[in-house]
Amino acid sequence: MAGTQSESATAPAKVTAGTLSKKEKRQIQFHDEARPKKLAHKEPTTEGLVQKAKELKKHRQSLPIFSARDVIIKEVKENACVVIVGETGSGKTTQIPQYLLESGLAAHGTIAVTQPRRVAAINLAKRVADEVGTPLGQKVGYSIRFDDSSSKDSLIKYMTDGIMLRELLSDRLLLRYSVIILDEAHERTLRTDILFGMVKSIQKQRQDLIEKGRRDIQPLKIVIMSATLDAEKFSEYFYNAKIMYISGRQFPVKILNTVEPQADYVDAALVTAFQIHQEEQQGDILIFLTGQEEIESLEKLIEEYAVDLPPSVGKLIPCPIFAAQDSATQQRIFEPAPLGTRKVILATNIAETSITIPNIRYVIDTGCHKSRGYNAKIGIESLLVEPISKSSARQRMGRAGREAPGLCFRLYTEDSFDQLEEDAIPEIKRCNLESAILSLKATGIDDVTRFDFMDRPSKSGLLRSLEHLYALEALDDQGNLTDIGKQMAAFPVDPPYAKVLLQSAKMECTKEVIEIISLLSVDSIFLAPSAKREEANEARQKFTSIDGDHLTLLNTLRAYESVKGDRDWCRENFINARHMRHVLDVRKQLIQFCERTCTPSSTFPIDPKKSCGHDLEIVLKCFLAGFFQNTALLQPDSTYKSILGGLTVSIHPSSTLFGKKREAIMYNELVFTTKHYIRGVSALESAWLPLAAPKYFGQRGA
Ligand code: CDP
Ligand code: MG
Repeated sequence: MAGTQSESATAPAKVTAGTLSKKEKRQIQFHDEARPKKLAHKEPTTEGLVQKAKELKKHRQSLPIFSARDVIIKEVKENACVVIVGETGSGKTTQIPQYLLESGLAAHGTIAVTQPRRVAAINLAKRVADEVGTPLGQKVGYSIRFDDSSSKDSLIKYMTDGIMLRELLSDRLLLRYSVIILDEAHERTLRTDILFGMVKSIQKQRQDLIEKGRRDIQPLKIVIMSATLDAEKFSEYFYNAKIMYISGRQFPVKILNTVEPQADYVDAALVTAFQIHQEEQQGDILIFLTGQEEIESLEKLIEEYAVDLPPSVGKLIPCPIFAAQDSATQQRIFEPAPLGTRKVILATNIAETSITIPNIRYVIDTGCHKSRGYNAKIGIESLLVEPISKSSARQRMGRAGREAPGLCFRLYTEDSFDQLEEDAIPEIKRCNLESAILSLKATGIDDVTRFDFMDRPSKSGLLRSLEHLYALEALDDQGNLTDIGKQMAAFPVDPPYAKVLLQSAKMECTKEVIEIISLLSVDSIFLAPSAKREEANEARQKFTSIDGDHLTLLNTLRAYESVKGDRDWCRENFINARHMRHVLDVRKQLIQFCERTCTPSSTFPIDPKKSCGHDLEIVLKCFLAGFFQNTALLQPDSTYKSILGGLTVSIHPSSTLFGKKREAIMYNELVFTTKHYIRGVSALESAWLPLAAPKYFGQRGA
């Protein structure tokens, strides 16, 4: 049962700063009243492997959801759709698929569990494979973009919502699945929303076929799982499906808001983490940040400061968690900290409801997250660091009270909390709909405006996305999918990248294009430690191309390969070796994809080995074929104005073209922080524009 959770606290109390030597001693004040100091401590277990399996069974039976096991099985067996609501950590994602498996519901097909995040899909599959007691990839597997560990025999399969949408292209009725569990429904990601409509229709189609006497077809069960209570909407949408509430276990969490607003929340999080470490009892810290870059910079800062901790204070070990990370590193966050030390987990909102990390007693909530948004005024999609909703703030707080009473340090004032929106707006209302439209059309839904959306996207948003797809030549004048569009829907990358790949086959530079797309799949391959910025910049000069970031990345990859990824070389050149390994992995996957599906006999054969040699200009032209909307022209006053929307954009300081004046530029990403920054920038000639996207520039009369 939920314990008491106070949303506010009153009397201000000082939390004194720790021994922070390299930086001026600073302290952050939080509102506080008498704080519970007597926190129970749970010793980490040190049992052997065999014992672990047994222990997991015990753990499974101790989860709040266990007492509802039989009821859940009964309800799913008796109903076509069930909505299950349960507090984060109660056991929904790891247990329910196993219950259904144990009750025979996988007899006629796999149980699929969709996740909005890749890291969560991998992690949960691993955990459940452990609990089931078979190696990962057999009975229990996962499938995410560029990484499939499932097999034909997998009975439980964790997958991203994006992968399920892609599977729909080859299995329109998802016949390989007997149960589809749409998890994290409360997040209302664009893809999960599209899946709601798809599986609803598939369930009906399968039922119709069964009624017509098709014996080879089995009914489809749908389970919707959510961590927040507002589940009526899901229930209404799924024919008033029954809602089951699983009560969780929650200890009281004390909330401490800052007295003053914090200008730099990363710095504030750093100071607060050390305050906690030096003043509070045992228990790990979880910090919510907005992205990989921030996570890595805080990780470094913590390491730097931790050196100066007095010997009487145990170590503080930063443990980052994000997508582009190898699984061994990721696993570390679940392992108990060595005795006398404390872990500080640095995460994005993946740790909000998707993944439950044990032993967290302290949460530091920056109050922000990165959200993909569509700026309707200028018609450009961008990544924005934005305030979270109240409901997210409550979820974050809850993470501190899973095993014992905890503390939640909010790096914002109580007033700021009051001003937050109650809930986040569903992505479908604010995002670019292009890949969703491609998926819908590719599965035979021609009139996307009449699709059974749970929340209808705005008409103008739909229209704009349709126009962009037309300009990308994925749709024809009638709005029907072209052959190019069909091919783009099958690619494991977003539509503009898919277009670039297709174009590369024509221009015979697929090798280079695949390499650059892989390089763009990580935040940055360059390290930029604040203390050694000059040195890092100098090192990067060696790879810099006058044409900008795309070719600079390519040069760097070539240099990296010429030394066979030597670690010392990476260190000397400030290259993020971890990211580089990820880049190579993505490249391998993309090459395999082309070899498997774009063979010489297909409509669009793509030879991933085809290289343009030294004529790299052609590579940029290829990118322009997908990113013609992300272009800007130099103005007489030396600023850049975007061609779409006429927005003044600034080249991000991390770009090789920062401070440079070129006639026209193309960029990979627009990020709004203090200005509209563009990242991944390359120079072009304006004469290339109409050639790269005749439909787009023809329409606009450019
Ligand atoms: O889905 P829900 O939030 O309801 O819970 P879950 O993800 O099924 O997690 C249930 C329990 O398993 C939690 O107590 C987690 O701490 C634990 N778990 C774990 O220890 N290690 C993992 N890799 C995943 C889950
Ligand atoms: Mg879950």
